[in-house]
Amino acid sequence: MNLKHVLLLSTSILSIVACKSQQAVQQSTTIQKPAENQGFYQFTNEDPNASPFFAKKASVYAKNGLATSAHPVASQVGVDILKMGGNAIDAAVATQFALSVVHPAAGNIGGGGFMVFRDKKGKTFTLDYREKAPENASRDMYLDENKNVKAGQLSWVGHLASGTPGSVDGLEQAHKRFGKLTWQQVLQPAIDLAENGVKLTAREARGLNNVRAELIKFNPNKTYFMKADTAKWKEGDVLVQKDLAKTLRLIQAQGRKGFYEGETAKLLLAEMKRGGGIITQKDLDNYHAVWRDAVIDTYKNLKVISMPPPSSGGIALIQLLKFVEPYPLKKWGWHSDSTTQVMIEAERRVYADRSKWLGDPDFVKVPQKELLDAEYLKKRWQDFQFSQASDSKVIKGGTIAGFESTETTHSSFVDKEGNAVSITTTLNGSYGSKVVVDGAGFLMNDEMDDFSIKPGVPNVYGLIGNEANAIAPNKRMLSSMTPTIVEKDGKLMMVLGTPGGSTIITSVFQVFLNVAEHDMTMQQAVDALRFHHQWMPDRTTFEDGAFTEKTLIRLREKGYKMDAQKNTIGRMDCILVLPDGTYEGGADVRSDDTAVGY
Ligand code: GLY
Repeated sequence: MNLKHVLLLSTSILSIVACKSQQAVQQSTTIQKPAENQGFYQFTNEDPNASPFFAKKASVYAKNGLATSAHPVASQVGVDILKMGGNAIDAAVATQFALSVVHPAAGNIGGGGFMVFRDKKGKTFTLDYREKAPENASRDMYLDENKNVKAGQLSWVGHLASGTPGSVDGLEQAHKRFGKLTWQQVLQPAIDLAENGVKLTAREARGLNNVRAELIKFNPNKTYFMKADTAKWKEGDVLVQKDLAKTLRLIQAQGRKGFYEGETAKLLLAEMKRGGGIITQKDLDNYHAVWRDAVIDTYKNLKVISMPPPSSGGIALIQLLKFVEPYPLKKWGWHSDSTTQVMIEAERRVYADRSKWLGDPDFVKVPQKELLDAEYLKKRWQDFQFSQASDSKVIKGGTIAGFESTETTHSSFVDKEGNAVSITTTLNGSYGSKVVVDGAGFLMNDEMDDFSIKPGVPNVYGLIGNEANAIAPNKRMLSSMTPTIVEKDGKLMMVLGTPGGSTIITSVFQVFLNVAEHDMTMQQAVDALRFHHQWMPDRTTFEDGAFTEKTLIRLREKGYKMDAQKNTIGRMDCILVLPDGTYEGGADVRSDDTAVGY
């Protein structure tokens, strides 16, 4: 162990002590961190005092089960369900419903998501409950007669922005197939939270204040997401959601029928009619989540299990890993110029492919096998050279797919038998379309914006859409959500995922490598500063402080455009299984994310 390692170890021990009070809030049981997991990454920063972490936070360790999500109360619900004898699926389902109450910005029943499940025997399943374009949707629905995008951001806010929601059907299907507790039991915590109220975190209060004007615009009948007077929400205020409690009770009593039929459906359709939305009863009747085969491949001795299309996440993650696999990343060190260069070049090529080839597999042929073929990837890498940056204008691969916003939410679960669930769900934008279904009390998604609303032309974010992801009735919009599970030697090793729109894939990529190559603990891996490149625009954005000045100079000399940004990238909620079987939760320090174990 050299001096740098000794320094790092002392810093890490000091930070564990400093974070002790925070840790007490975060976990129900603390287990001594096993000595063999005192990993070190080789940080090549020339300044030994510089920290590569966004901030330091203590890991949560547990022997019997662990839940990590965007909100402390939702994670606690997950662990309470595990303690009642529920399995990881029960915990995941209960937590998703709880998130729809405590984290209305992204937790939802009016949106959709993806689930990757690995059972205790190692069998894998993925569930696609992504929203679908309504039957009355059409390719040019957001374009005027001159084929220009209509004013008003109609795919982003308001009633026309919503796809048919998938969350309730998906959660019911997952629970029916794998749950142990009753449906009534897994719904009850969310109902109680909606009925009795939940204390807003500072972040949730800020979020609601930020969308106040839009909520007023789209909801003439005031909703409880606005305060009664003009006062702003503040941390500690209690948000009670009686209408949502009523809707959740209907779902508890009737399953999917409590949402897609009867009173809730009636209110949803009335809301659509009031605001010019196009979802019909037929769309609701026809919505069914789909079990799909996971995308599975290897990185060295690790098996990576991730989400197939209509998410781009699994294919893109595996392509990224395959591109960097031959390089000695560990030896080069975390965020060294060489490590960063091959990661950026991998991202450039993968996002170019994503844009050209990926869409809903029920509508377009997705050449999954070809995109992951070793010979194909080798050929794709041939024009890479260390001496200079590649040029995104020259890299072939087509056009970038639709932009995905950053407001999504991820949670990870593992139970005492070793069943593991990785689940990412979204309304798309923060608080979705900003439309609250009057009388039913939940927010609708604005997922239609994840389609390319005008193929071939840059959207509002300067990104270009494509044909594979063009709008069609009943089609699912392309996603970047990347719920992922990793195995080592046939045993569960990691559960990974994050929100973050197009940065989801690169965030999962980085956290995976932080553990697999740079020997970080899961909490360190999650806290480490991140960067992102997505082919177009041809620039790398990074969280301020992610690179040393020397590294930035070297990369810029080769032609890389490196832009520091104040905004954070991703909110990872992950689990690592240590060699002795202890679970380590890594909940992102960037927000309210919390791991709870027992
Ligand atoms: N709406 C974010 C995504 O699906 O990637």
